[in-house]
Amino acid sequence: QSSVSVVEPTVAVSNEPKPKTRDITILFGSETGNAQGIAETLESKLKENEFNVNLACMEDFKTKDLKKVEDLFIVTATHGEGDPPDNAITFHEFLHSRKAPKLNDLRYSVLALGDESYEFFCQTGKDFDKRLEELGAERLHPRVDCDLDFDEPAEKWMEDILNSIGQTSVHESDEPVKIDSEDISATQTYSRTNPYEAEILENINLNGRGSNKEVRHIELSLEGFNDSFEPGDCIGIFPKNDPEVVSELIETLVWDPDESVPINDAGDTLSLRDALTNHFEITKLTKPIVTKAANIFGNGVLSEKVKKDRWIYGYVEGRDLIDLLNDFPPEDLQPDALHQILRKLPAREYSIASSYQATQDEVHLTIGAVRYHANDRDRKGVCSVQFAERLEPGDTVPIYLKKNPNFKFPKTNETPVIMIGPGTGVAPFRSYIQEKEELELNNKAWLFFGEQHFTTDFLYQTEWQGWLKDGVLDKLSVAFSRDSEEKVYVQHRIEENGKEFYQWIQEGAAIYVCGDEKHMAKDVHQSILNVIQKEGHYNEEEAEEFLTQLKKDRRYQRDIY
Ligand code: 2AM
Repeated sequence: QSSVSVVEPTVAVSNEPKPKTRDITILFGSETGNAQGIAETLESKLKENEFNVNLACMEDFKTKDLKKVEDLFIVTATHGEGDPPDNAITFHEFLHSRKAPKLNDLRYSVLALGDESYEFFCQTGKDFDKRLEELGAERLHPRVDCDLDFDEPAEKWMEDILNSIGQTSVHESDEPVKIDSEDISATQTYSRTNPYEAEILENINLNGRGSNKEVRHIELSLEGFNDSFEPGDCIGIFPKNDPEVVSELIETLVWDPDESVPINDAGDTLSLRDALTNHFEITKLTKPIVTKAANIFGNGVLSEKVKKDRWIYGYVEGRDLIDLLNDFPPEDLQPDALHQILRKLPAREYSIASSYQATQDEVHLTIGAVRYHANDRDRKGVCSVQFAERLEPGDTVPIYLKKNPNFKFPKTNETPVIMIGPGTGVAPFRSYIQEKEELELNNKAWLFFGEQHFTTDFLYQTEWQGWLKDGVLDKLSVAFSRDSEEKVYVQHRIEENGKEFYQWIQEGAAIYVCGDEKHMAKDVHQSILNVIQKEGHYNEEEAEEFLTQLKKDRRYQRDIY
């Protein structure tokens, strides 16, 4: 079986060995590429300082080599309910098993990435940190847990690492370890910390009248952006909070909107309205936010509640700062408290829906407006509804490019591609098919698309049909869940076409899944297992092994959210 070798596995690249220098290994467990990016940055910083460095994805690391590692730096994301990212699972299991060796000679430090709005914040990083200590290793530097806004703490962790090993290793130099941060930014003019202001060229509703959905097709100008992207990559957007929600919050606080408020410890200030619109996240509560609020509000009921271990107020979807203020009115809240309680408004990342090869000066996105009713109020997705209700062509939005090394398509004519992308999950497949057409790749391609109704919700319908006619796409299987008595979903189409699906796998196909994580991706995973089991005559365990192997060969990749 051929494997899709578009992503070069990052294994054991070492400099000329230098005598007496300790060998450093960096391992990453990455879901969307952030942890990998940081690990690579750390690798280059260490190399600049002439350390011997091995960088590897946890999945590619030979666990028998662990005993030989002297300094280990782990950068890992956490997935879902505190689980390791896919490419960290086997290493995480190994380390927690009885097979894990004693590691008395090892020194280590862990950088954990996560999102404070999840209960099991940075859990995988915490697991590694604790387990390595249990195995006898010495913690060289305390673990750092990063929230979504990870740039600064990650940078600080890397500096601290360089300083600690600079001091203790036999890296002989009187000069302090130099950190040259200019080098990393030299090739990219724009980044998360220096976003590009993209002009909106197009903003249209892809759904027909009467649909339950509102999915916007957005076209952004990239003139002067100076960077290229591949199918599977994402665009991050820094949104603004809804002015109506901001006004309601200001009324609840009973403060003057023009008053200037501190937004960080450094003492930078913005007007209250500006701060609540552009700087702070106000529509989500996390456990740390509720805990900090309890310390500051002086509300006895809130103070008692947060002491309860299982009190989940901050994790209930939709609850926001206005709810917290109404449910637990503060005794005496000062504007200075805002930055002590709230976190920065995080960027939203969307899978790119267009091909750079086809349209270099533009990037397209497919953004579903999030609207729902919860806890007696209408709730709206910050970024998606900004596009649906308040942004028009001519306006600009701050964006950055986020590459996703874990969702990459073959660039050859040999590998058939199976794409499963219901709803807005179809975006990266539009990107890939545009690219495939542009580069005239003639590998086979099969798309599974699902939505509620054929007439109103068939996203990019005419484009798919055109590509099917022209042979850029070989097969299109659609599942419109609410056009018939019984619900039909993409996974039903997969199983109905099981024979052919398995045949494609036999021919070396790579399978891509994009979209809803909670339900769709799990069900699709199961249906693929069912097909493998049935058509390949495997038992359950063998089918699992088969799919795990496909994953390792990068022939089963997912971008799920
Ligand atoms: P539904 O809204 O009728 O339940 C895109 O959102 C499409 O995915 C819709 O047709 C939606 O159907 C469907 N969908 C919902 N749950 C799903 C699941 N568990 N697996 C696959 N598709 C699902």
